[in-house]
Formats: sequence, structure tokens, C-alpha cells
Amino acid sequence: MIPVCAAVILRSGKILLARRRPGLRHAGMWEFPGGRVEPEETPAAALIRELREELGIEAVVGAEFARCRHAYDFGEIELIALLVPSFTGDLKLIDHDQFAWVEARRLLEYDLAPADIPIAKALAAHRRRDRYRGTHPRRFSEKYKELGGDPAATAKAKARGSTPAGAHLPVMLDEVIEALEPLAGAAVLDCTLGWGGHAAELARRAGPQGSVVGLDRDGEELARTGQRLQDLGLKVALRQSDYADARKVLAGLGLAGVDALLADLGASSMQLDRPERGMSLKADGPLDLRMDRSQGRTAADWLAQATQSEIADALARFGEEPDAAKIAAGLIALAACGRAPKTTRELVAAVAAAKGLGPGRLRKKDAFSPHPAARTFQALRIVVNDEHGALRTLLEDLPDLVHAGGRAVLLTFHAGEEALVEDALRAQAGVGLWRAAPTAALRPSPEEVRANPRARSARLWRVVRV
Ligand SMILES: C[S@@+](CC[C@H](N)C(=O)[O-])C[C@H]1O[C@@H](n2cnc3c(N)ncnc32)[C@H](O)[C@@H]1O
Repeated sequence: MIPVCAAVILRSGKILLARRRPGLRHAGMWEFPGGRVEPEETPAAALIRELREELGIEAVVGAEFARCRHAYDFGEIELIALLVPSFTGDLKLIDHDQFAWVEARRLLEYDLAPADIPIAKALAAHRRRDRYRGTHPRRFSEKYKELGGDPAATAKAKARGSTPAGAHLPVMLDEVIEALEPLAGAAVLDCTLGWGGHAAELARRAGPQGSVVGLDRDGEELARTGQRLQDLGLKVALRQSDYADARKVLAGLGLAGVDALLADLGASSMQLDRPERGMSLKADGPLDLRMDRSQGRTAADWLAQATQSEIADALARFGEEPDAAKIAAGLIALAACGRAPKTTRELVAAVAAAKGLGPGRLRKKDAFSPHPAARTFQALRIVVNDEHGALRTLLEDLPDLVHAGGRAVLLTFHAGEEALVEDALRAQAGVGLWRAAPTAALRPSPEEVRANPRARSARLWRVVRV
């Protein structure tokens, strides 16, 4: 595989394309400038060098935008597209005979070099954010430029350590790939597809001969992720399913087991951020919290019929909420006078009142300080999605889902999940199903936590099938 870097150079909302001059490979075709990544070079360092040599500019290289593979007659390349939010110097025609600054949606109108087409497709999927009345956006869909996939806005959000709205940053990606070691041709099961960040990398490693299956119970996000993976030219078989039914799904696909299995537990950033999903602590929305909104009871419905001790028990068990009893009493008092919370904001207010906090105390100081209602939301999410029931079934089935010599990785995010995973894997290792009991779980690096605070509580558990 030949690593090649490509620049998505941005200026005033447009992207630079350059046309290859006669006498060079792909003469007359348009491309995102870049070139080969030499051994010992990072893609970013290679891109800075290439842009200096072929365009005469000094580039500021931002986040990685996408990766895709293409087989040319001289070999297969892996094209790594990186964002270049700014540069200094005047553009010079050295390897090219023409430049064009192009709106993302028009990129595909150009005769592009074949390897660049998936990158252009991913960029073209960008749409303008919704127009809003007045001076300030009010609704979620109006607020964030990156919701439509604007690469510059996405790069800015990542640079300030936030998750770009409408996206999810894969947690401990390098560690997951290292632990799963997916080889070309591997059969892979991603039980929790989400945004597809892990699945995309697993699909690249498994290559065209591999079979990658992605499950998610959330049909709304699954459809969006399917489109994105397709735009990147990646082959992943998608199924809307609970991972408790993974065995049935694999059997339906004619797979007896897989070489690599991943379960990245909990909710995705898209679910947590979109107000209509009713999981957001910041924006108001219906108090829902279901990952699959076509099934089951909403959190508002559950709260409306639960007893005080059921609520207190759920908050203590699934959220480790120290004020579980006070919050449960407050919620029951509200229900008694017909004011049981029906929206996320009403639930936040009820928790704050039970904890004796004024509105000023509800604002998070920074991305690392927990929101006072976070534990309550987590507990209710676990209840309405029966997260622990599904996880127990997955853990029971795990040894049957993984081939001999195959690997499984689970990413947990709180103590309840950690205990279930650790106990099950240890017991199974004890009866000789895994090569060894999982050692202490891996944690994300401080750099990752700084760049993505949502990774801070992640723990990675890995096992190899006997
Ligand atoms: C943390 S996200 C996964 C993110 C993903 N690894 C990525 O890189 O984008 C967890 C996902 O698992 C899904 N999920 C949670 N419980 C599930 C279950 N029991 N069965 C299937 N999917 C589930 C959620 O809907 C969510 O999309």
C-alpha cells in the first residue's frame, strides 16, 4: 500500500483544485494537491513538503478529513486527505497548468483523478446550515456550520477540543486497531457502528476481500453512516439490530464467527447532541433517551409510572448518583401535582432543585467538569434502553461470535459497564475460552482526552479467543 497525502485547501468557503500539466501522470485531470508520504514521514509533514515543492506555499495543516484507497496500475494507494485551513505565499504553477477555487458541491463537475473522487464526494455532501431568522441561531440545526459537513468548521471544532456537531470522534482508535489487528480479508463485526469512525478504519484494513458487518439499534444514524461509508468507497454490511441479536445477524449473513469484534458501548455524540433525541443536557427537547425511537418507552413515560424507590434505585445503580433519594423524592412530588418532567430542560431543572442548585451552577465550567444532571440522564438512558440486559447477552454470546484465534475489544464508559465486562471476561477466561483474563483495562492518552473530553472515562478491554 502506497501512502499518499492530499490537501483540502480552504479559502472563503472554497476548495483548491489544481490541473495536472501535460507530460505528467493524469495530465489534464484535476486533483487535490499532494503526493507520496515517504517512509519516516507523517502525512502532515509530507503534505507541508509537497505543497512547498509543487505549489510554492507554506501550509498550515489541520485535521485529517478522510482516507480512501484506490488501485492504480502501478499499485494500490491509500489517499489521506488533510485539511489546510490557511497558507502563506503565492500559488505557483509547477506540476499544474491551472488552479480553480471550487465550492464543495461543484467539485464533482471537474474531471478528477480517480483516487480523488471519494474525497470530493465526501466534501460535496456538505450542505449549508439552515437559514435562521433574526440575529442569532436558535435551533440546533441552525447553530453549527459543521452539521452540514463544512470541513473548515469541522476542523475548527476539533481544534478547540469539541466534537463537531452531528459527528462522533472514534475513541482510542489506534489502540482499538492495534488490539484487534484486523488483517486483509478479515471478517469483522462492529456491534456499535455509530458514526462509523472505528468501522471505516477496520474496513480499510480488511480491504475488498474482507467482510465487515456494522450493527446499530439506531436506524436514524445508521442510514446517515451508511451513506458516508459508501461515499468513502468502503464496504460495510449494515444491519439495524440490537447487539444482543448479533448471533442471529451473523447466521443470517452466513458467517459462523468473526476474526475481530468491537463493541464501543454507550451513546454516540450525535445522539447526545441532537435535542430531538432527548439526551442533551444543554438544549431542550422531548425527554426521550431511546437509541431506537421506533421501540420501547421514553424516559418521560418511564418516570411517569415508576415508584419513588424504583427511581432512586435506578439513579443509584446505573448513575451512581449520590443524591438519588432526594432527586427521586423531588420527581415524585412534581408528578403528584401533574408536573412530571416531559422535556430535558424540565428534568435538568428538577435535578437542580433537588440538589439545591441555582441556574448559574448548571453551566459547565469547562468540557471536563461533569454536569449536575449527567448521572441522572445516564441512569435513565440505561433503563429505557435496557443497556445492561443487552450487554449481558452480548457478553454471554461473545465466545461464540469470535473464531479461534480471533479478538474482541470492548470500550466501557462507566463503572457499571466495567464491572459487567470484567466479571464476564474473567469467568470465561477461567474456563479456557479466552487465552488470558483481561489485564487492567487501557485508558486513553492525555493527548486524546485533551482533544476529545468525551473519551475521558473510556476503558479498553481486549481478549483473544483460544
Ligand atoms: C459510542 S457509539 C459508537 C461509535 C462508533 N464506534 C464510532 O466510531 O462512530 C455507540 C453506538 O452504539 C449503539 N448502541 C448502543 N446500544 C446498542 C445495542 N444494544 N445494540 C446495538 N447498538 C447499540 C448506539 O446507538 C450508538 O450509535
